[in-house]
Amino acid sequence: MNKNKIFKIILFTIILAAVISGGIYMYRKFYKNEYSNKNNYDLKQVSSNIISETIKNRRSIRNYANKPLDKKEILTLLFAAQGITDKKNNLRAAPSAGATYPLELYIAVGNAKNLEPGIYKYNSKSNDITKIESGDKRSELCNNALSQEWIKQAAAVIIICAIYERTTNKYSENGKKYVHMEVGAVAENVYLQAVPLNIGTVFVGAFDTDKVRKTIKANKNEEPLCLMPLGKKNINDINNNNSGSNAMTKQALEIVDLDVEKVIEELNKAFADEWFAYYQYWIGAKVAKGPLRPSVVEELVEHANEELKHADMVAERIIQLNGTPILSPKEWYEVSSCQYAEPSDFNVVPILKQNIKAEQCAIKVYNNLLKLVKDKDFVTYNMVLSILEDEIEHETDLENLLEDISLIK
Ligand SMILES: Cc1cc2nc3c(=O)[nH]c(=O)nc-3n(C[C@H](O)[C@H](O)[C@H](O)COP(=O)(O)O)c2cc1C
Ligand SMILES: [Fe+2]
Ligand SMILES: [Fe+2]
Repeated sequence: MNKNKIFKIILFTIILAAVISGGIYMYRKFYKNEYSNKNNYDLKQVSSNIISETIKNRRSIRNYANKPLDKKEILTLLFAAQGITDKKNNLRAAPSAGATYPLELYIAVGNAKNLEPGIYKYNSKSNDITKIESGDKRSELCNNALSQEWIKQAAAVIIICAIYERTTNKYSENGKKYVHMEVGAVAENVYLQAVPLNIGTVFVGAFDTDKVRKTIKANKNEEPLCLMPLGKKNINDINNNNSGSNAMTKQALEIVDLDVEKVIEELNKAFADEWFAYYQYWIGAKVAKGPLRPSVVEELVEHANEELKHADMVAERIIQLNGTPILSPKEWYEVSSCQYAEPSDFNVVPILKQNIKAEQCAIKVYNNLLKLVKDKDFVTYNMVLSILEDEIEHETDLENLLEDISLIK
């Protein structure tokens, strides 16, 4: 082999090595980082607030727990879609071309706590639903939509329909395009409102329009454009979600500087308070005597049910955080912040006063819990906020009753 040949071989080897290592470097730098390592993208430029956290946690969910929704949750989602947010000007939660509001919302209810199975229609003005047809139509809707299983599995299904004329009368052909854009805005509102409620949903566009129209008994000029199955998320989905605090495992919560044990401890205290509040209202309703008794009893029973619902919500969250809700009522006395006030005088006035005190205590407890989890545990924060809203309403209701009673005397 002459020197020239050896030199050529060495040069070729060097160039080949350079090309290969350059290729590997480029692959690592660009392809791997940008495409394979998606979860390491930098979110520092995105500020953290209740909306950004909600957006980070929105996902299409096609698997639901076998649990009922309640009417309040359903109305909250429908309000997000088409509720009136400006009564004076009749404007709604989602934008609409020329405020023509071409969309009508139906909901097929299958599994809800205080709603019989059937097809209902949403009324924006009253923020309520009216039954159009009885019977569980989920399976039929599933068949109308290429047998997408999640429609059958959901507790309820929203059907977004359009009356095109409302918008095409004003914008001619362009109006049709606007109606479709509006469906997107409405569906996104539902997606986002579903996040803090721990409800899963998915935009379903693939279905037979005529069959769906028939199933939900919609009018001929109402065109179904989107189905949104709704169902409580499975606990595993809540914990294994792809990102953000909704998905937070115990470990992840520790990373964001949240003392999970402390949160569980505080939630357990609140859990004990809720059981006491439940029983205090419940027994108060049985023994109350005196002026306005029927109204007082009705209010106490309603509050009792809501306190029980709070106990359920708090227990579920404790379990999600890998804690255990207090197992023995004996322990309630040891940990409760608000304690139990036994009604000794059965007159409605002292009973109401005792309950007002309990509500004021609950408001304080939940305010402190809010501070503890703010910016750290989005799901607990939202749950506490929604309970707090109820407690404030409870206190106001009781104060109003006391005032009514004082006016009688
Ligand atoms: C117009 C439209 C139609 C869709 N139709 C269906 C559908 O028929 N079935 C379904 O399971 N998902 C449907 N999707 C949901 C998409 O598959 C989903 O948004 C996409 O996979 C991205 O996932 P993400 O929503 O979790 O970000 C639809 C979404 C849009 C916007
Ligand atoms: Fe409560
Ligand atoms: Fe309360």
